[in-house]
Amino acid sequence: MSTTTTDGQTGYMFDNATDEAAHQLRHLGEILDPGTRQTLREIGVGPGCRVTDIGAGAGTLTAWLADQVAPDGHVTAVDLDPRHITAGPTVTVRAGDIRNMELEGSQQVIVARLVLMHLPEREQVLTQLARALAPGGVLVVADWDCTWRDMIRASPSPRATQLIERFQDALLSFGESRGADMGWATRAPEAMLRAGLINVTSRIESRSWRGGTGICLLHRSNSIQRERELLAAGMTAEDLAELREVLMDPELMLSGYLMHTTTGRRPIPA
Ligand SMILES: C[S@@+](CC[C@H](N)C(=O)[O-])C[C@H]1O[C@@H](n2cnc3c(N)ncnc32)[C@H](O)[C@@H]1O
Repeated sequence: MSTTTTDGQTGYMFDNATDEAAHQLRHLGEILDPGTRQTLREIGVGPGCRVTDIGAGAGTLTAWLADQVAPDGHVTAVDLDPRHITAGPTVTVRAGDIRNMELEGSQQVIVARLVLMHLPEREQVLTQLARALAPGGVLVVADWDCTWRDMIRASPSPRATQLIERFQDALLSFGESRGADMGWATRAPEAMLRAGLINVTSRIESRSWRGGTGICLLHRSNSIQRERELLAAGMTAEDLAELREVLMDPELMLSGYLMHTTTGRRPIPA
């Protein structure tokens, strides 16, 4: 698979500086935070922990983590463009590209949700994250398997079904042209094992959303953020207007992509 566009750009396929990004990132938090929080609770995030949130986006998880680790713990939120994340006494916000950053070591938990799938250098980055863990620390990598496309549970019309499928084809192809790997989530466990982590385990989940909620709002937001690329892929302005109406229609029911949450622990030397 090619990992470069004609202009040679690779990496994240959206842009936090766009007007739509605040909505998009907030929808992600609403859809995914409950599941990720459950994983983080299970691995024992609590008072005093040192945690890093990679590609923290809206910072919803960062803010929740800050509450969990208070009063003595610390959360570092890293993002290419951290404009939506709020710093605080126990939250440090760092702007930068995780592919070129020196990370603070001895982290008890590092979480990277919906970041590695976007980066052609995902395996090197994962290795670097594993090294930044304290002995016994846990890496949480959560990514969508977007190769699973059986997402339409109920559709108001054949035309609505067709629009959603064309939109998905065009958006995911654009992501691939930027170096995203839509099936990487299924291979994260192997990559963790290669990085020397132990107790590697994965949870896979999805749920359905009516038009006007959850994943439907996210797709709508994505269609606005990447309108130019969708038009270039052959969708018309009328198609996109109709798609956005369909995504608000309560007769529509879509499943989210399959979310793979993979965890692995850095061994404690004997
Ligand atoms: C799809 S959003 C996910 C946000 C959040 N983790 C969530 O799941 O709600 C991806 C985030 O990762 C950030 N990001 C993408 N590539 C990055 C990189 N190379 N280094 C640091 N952050 C990156 C983006 O700016 C964006 O905020």
